[in-house]
Amino acid sequence: MSIPAQDLSPFAARRKRLMDIMRTRGGGIAILPTAREAVRNRDAEFPYRFDSDFFYLTGFPEPEAWVVLVAGREDRSILFCRGKNLEREIWDGYRIGPEAAADQFGFDQAFPVESLADELPKLIADQPALFVPLAGDRLFDLSLRTWLDKVRAMGRSGATAPGCAHDLRAILAEMRLVKDASEIDTMRRAGAISAGAHVRAMRATRPGLREYEIEAELLHEFRRHGSQSVAYNSIVATGHNACVLHYRAGDAELKDGDLLLIDAGCELDGYASDITRTFPVNGRFSGPQRALYDIVLEAQKAATAHTRPGARWNDGHEAAVRVLAQGMIDEGLLSGTLDGVLESQHYTRFYMHRTGHWLGMDVHDVGDYREPGAPPSADETRPWRMLRPGMVLTIEPGIYVRPAADVPERFWDIGIRIEDDAVVTETGCELITRGVPVAADEIEALMS
Ligand code: GLY
Ligand code: MN
Ligand code: MN
Repeated sequence: MSIPAQDLSPFAARRKRLMDIMRTRGGGIAILPTAREAVRNRDAEFPYRFDSDFFYLTGFPEPEAWVVLVAGREDRSILFCRGKNLEREIWDGYRIGPEAAADQFGFDQAFPVESLADELPKLIADQPALFVPLAGDRLFDLSLRTWLDKVRAMGRSGATAPGCAHDLRAILAEMRLVKDASEIDTMRRAGAISAGAHVRAMRATRPGLREYEIEAELLHEFRRHGSQSVAYNSIVATGHNACVLHYRAGDAELKDGDLLLIDAGCELDGYASDITRTFPVNGRFSGPQRALYDIVLEAQKAATAHTRPGARWNDGHEAAVRVLAQGMIDEGLLSGTLDGVLESQHYTRFYMHRTGHWLGMDVHDVGDYREPGAPPSADETRPWRMLRPGMVLTIEPGIYVRPAADVPERFWDIGIRIEDDAVVTETGCELITRGVPVAADEIEALMS
């Protein structure tokens, strides 16, 4: 994946921050490889995507690369990457190479990746601790074992192997949970591109087209604005397909009178966006569609109001569920009182997922949903995470109605979700995906 030239200072700042954290735990050595290339079939590969944690620390886009950080009395940051190779570069393209990489990406040293086996044991020797992905990857574990064996074999010359290991990914997850200014800038741009793609899809939609034709509109818009990939497989689901939560764009025909649910977002420079809109194929909501749509939109508003500093992770979900459950009662999907429906969780028949997730380099981004540390007492769970400025999450309530004898027929096969991406600010949140309309009247106006 080629990423355009960018300001590399945030990456150096993150390495520095990580090494400061390592020092608070007594210092040591961090080792992290990027993702491997993956074969799709025979000699064709999947489009390459770097490891998110690796890219977060380096900005380095090539495969076969490792970052090594030593935090002791002094910091050392080292990159291992593919060596220059004119023959391979003729076939596969330009390689940055260790010399240029050290300079360009701000590393103290860079080595060709072939020298890992020689250099790593020397670097690991006498470090008090390892900071590595714990039990995450067989090949990594195997390499680590080999390097540690070499260090142990150096014992008679006085070298010692690290006495403990910390999970590097857990530390990075905590760092990645709060985005810095350059990340938020990228996410705003990704959100704007995806919103534009949803607008394009709404404009293109009409009865008689197929789901894949609308998917093509989305992909066209993502790519022509420089997005390198989708952030996840696009969902383009019409009619009853909208009730299948992980449906993909298929070949179903868009029918007059049905809804179309699109859940699609681009990835830009390593960052995901994630938008869902649901709209009528013919440009006008029917009465029952509109009734459910407005409930979902109200639920999203309620969750958005609880997306602010000091609120807890689950507050938005609880607020959305209240609105959805009341709406289900009002429309005859459920009977009973609001408190009864909340208590019994009968609403999960029509709303079976949560109202959001962290968003960042990964669409379901890293980060604990509860506060770190031990539970307050033996019979309590850890409190839900308190929202802080710089956290980014989706807000995505929905209603999905499958046909059943006890469900009013006018709602059968209606699936609705509305999803936007929110950056927590000092005072509330900023929805960075509102370049596409969300109010039913505005959608109808755009499609007319
Ligand atoms: N598109 C994946 C999600 O909404 O969680
Ligand atoms: Mn989502
Ligand atoms: Mn989504």
